[in-house]
Amino acid sequence: MIILAIETSCDDTCIAVLEIKNKGIKILSNVVSSQVKLHAKYGGVYPFLAKREHQKNLPIVFKKALKEAGNPKIDASANSASTLSGNRRVDLIAVTTGPGLEPCLWTGINFAVDLAKKLKVSLVPINHIEAHILANIINNKQLTINNFPAVCLVISGGHTQLILMTPIRKASLSNGAGKNWEYKIIGETRDDAAGECFDKTARILGLGYPGGPAIAAEAAKFKVQSSKFKVSLPRPMIYQKNYDFSFSGLKTAVLYDFKGRSAKIKKSKQYIQAMAAEIQQSIIDVLVKKTIKATRDYNAKTIILGGGVTANHELRKQFKKKIKEELPKIQYLKPNIKFCTDNAVMIAVAGYFNRKKKGWKKIKADANLKISESQ
Ligand code: KG4
Ligand code: ZN
Repeated sequence: MIILAIETSCDDTCIAVLEIKNKGIKILSNVVSSQVKLHAKYGGVYPFLAKREHQKNLPIVFKKALKEAGNPKIDASANSASTLSGNRRVDLIAVTTGPGLEPCLWTGINFAVDLAKKLKVSLVPINHIEAHILANIINNKQLTINNFPAVCLVISGGHTQLILMTPIRKASLSNGAGKNWEYKIIGETRDDAAGECFDKTARILGLGYPGGPAIAAEAAKFKVQSSKFKVSLPRPMIYQKNYDFSFSGLKTAVLYDFKGRSAKIKKSKQYIQAMAAEIQQSIIDVLVKKTIKATRDYNAKTIILGGGVTANHELRKQFKKKIKEELPKIQYLKPNIKFCTDNAVMIAVAGYFNRKKKGWKKIKADANLKISESQ
């Protein structure tokens, strides 16, 4: 089946067209129009500015995505709009309905509803967090009963959640979902998300937005032996028995350290690199420790990572090492780097698994949508 997916939950306008069969996934097009430059001057995302950009970008991204997918003469107003070359039709449209920035979500939803009416195809609402988890399937990895229970760690700009994935109870099979698992949130951040902590601390250090890649780049330059600086940050909640997180104290600790330094040191490369390395390590330590604990406690067979922060090389490497040392039998899944940050390919994959969902006429944005509601 051919799925066209739309993602506008934050500051990326994304449309992808995929051909998904039981045997595998073929990406026909994947267009991401990033608003990073626009928001960089403000050091964060402004929802109404982002909404305006989505409205402007969507028709352009749509045309580009269809063209790449093989239809050079696409015209959204024509009935032939759903026809791809070789007379293949779009069978389904998938759109992110939450969680995310509400004005941005509505832009994608309105566009998707109009398109679904024009093309006379069904529309499925997609949970953005579920899509980050299912990004692991894009490169044709399968999730089978042998993977469950699985512990998923979703780390993005807006979320930090530990989610348990278990085989679906027989009674709930009547929900019509094309998947045989369900989700339960077992822990989450009580304040800032991990990505938000990267973004906010990068802002303090004057490294710009988005902060994650900027902190990672500075941390990579840090050389412990030759450094004049010894920066030491807390590992919030690391020894608590729950699976919750807290990152706002870490940001405050960075702010105090920064404020206490002289103007010369604040600007020195060595200080920035030492601080970036410690911020990154503190976040990684807490995420690894709590994920390993949850995996042990729930007897999980698989650890699944997802979300923008998963693009962090050091985090991927340290997870791999720790799992090998402490839980050698556990399967470790992480998305291809290309599909860690927001994209519509993961929305299409989630669309495939939710294809039997009905009732799209009532589709609405929900800024706080929970993954446990998307069975
Ligand atoms: O999933 P995502 O693209 O958007 C949301 O759903 O929020 O995640 C964006 C977040 C940002 O906070 C960004 O700083 C972070 O992912 N990020 C990273 C890296 N690349 C993106 N954090 C750490 N290291 C990276 N390499
Ligand atoms: Zn995301």
